[in-house]
Amino acid sequence: MTAPATDRGLRVRGLKKTFRSFGVEQPVLKGIDVDVAPGEVVGLIGPNGAGKTTLMSCILGFLFPTDGEVTIDGLRSDDLTIRERTGFVPERMNFDRGVNGRAFLQYMARLAKVEEPEDRVEALLERLDIADAAERPLSQYSRGMLQRIGLCQALLATPDFLFLDEPTSGLDPNGVMLVREVIDEERRRGATVLLNSHQLSEIEKVCDRVLFLSKGVISDDQALRSTVSIPIAVTLLPGSFDADAVAAAVGARPEHNVVQVTVEREAAIADIVRRLVETGAGVLDVRRRTADLEELFRRER
Ligand SMILES: Nc1ncnc2c1ncn2[C@@H]1O[C@H](COP(=O)(O)OP(=O)(O)OP(=O)(O)O)[C@@H](O)[C@H]1O
Ligand SMILES: [Mg+2]
Repeated sequence: MTAPATDRGLRVRGLKKTFRSFGVEQPVLKGIDVDVAPGEVVGLIGPNGAGKTTLMSCILGFLFPTDGEVTIDGLRSDDLTIRERTGFVPERMNFDRGVNGRAFLQYMARLAKVEEPEDRVEALLERLDIADAAERPLSQYSRGMLQRIGLCQALLATPDFLFLDEPTSGLDPNGVMLVREVIDEERRRGATVLLNSHQLSEIEKVCDRVLFLSKGVISDDQALRSTVSIPIAVTLLPGSFDADAVAAAVGARPEHNVVQVTVEREAAIADIVRRLVETGAGVLDVRRRTADLEELFRRER
């Protein structure tokens, strides 16, 4: 059964989760609405203990929500056809640690009925740069190595939906870059991705949109990559420019020596620089402005 177009992607409505232990109730999620469109990469940020992992677990059907509804392409997330199309990297790896990395992935690939499982496993071991350790038991893996195996496992069945709970935790800088490239590849392939991370710079680089979870609700929802407008900041050589001439050339006055403009296409960035240079201004730096997530964090928590 094909879902109606409006139901495509991830839809969370009125999700609540209250933990009860020893007669004490702790409401963690107090009514969450989230939409992730097909092909969108969305980051979930928020303080420790905000409920990011709890939300992921409710979405994946590992935890029963107290109230509310989760659908993926119009179906419940624990529906088998959805499970087959979903990859997941958990916050903490819980593997059968006696087995080696390659054997573990081959076992998981067969479970997931991956075509040509051995080729797929080798390709992923290479892609996540962990092939050298493939023969060693998981019990000897470092945290970052386990994380790489977890990512291989999540990608085995070429999933349409990827849920990544802190995919870069424990990874070295090369690993962090690798994960960013892999997420970008998944995006280009058309995968829908929800990830949570405390590495705000990574979220900023890889996500189309970011959700801020705090005090049980989504308190902010910000687009990071817009396809219709690209905000840029151009730093000018101090003393090299005339503010009025700059304002006339690009329609924005410099503040100190930085002029902020919005263009509609990447190609228009060169035109802005040319116009600035024509006024006699020296251009030191051009960068895309993105939301200041650290500032958002400080403000919202
Ligand atoms: N199984 C559980 N039983 C009781 N309380 C729980 C359970 N799981 C999580 N909690 C509580 O729910 C709250 C949210 O936890 P959660 O792990 O979802 O936070 P998080 O946003 O993922 O934090 P972090 O950034 O540290 O990973 C915490 O107060 C935690 O103690
Ligand atoms: Mg967590």
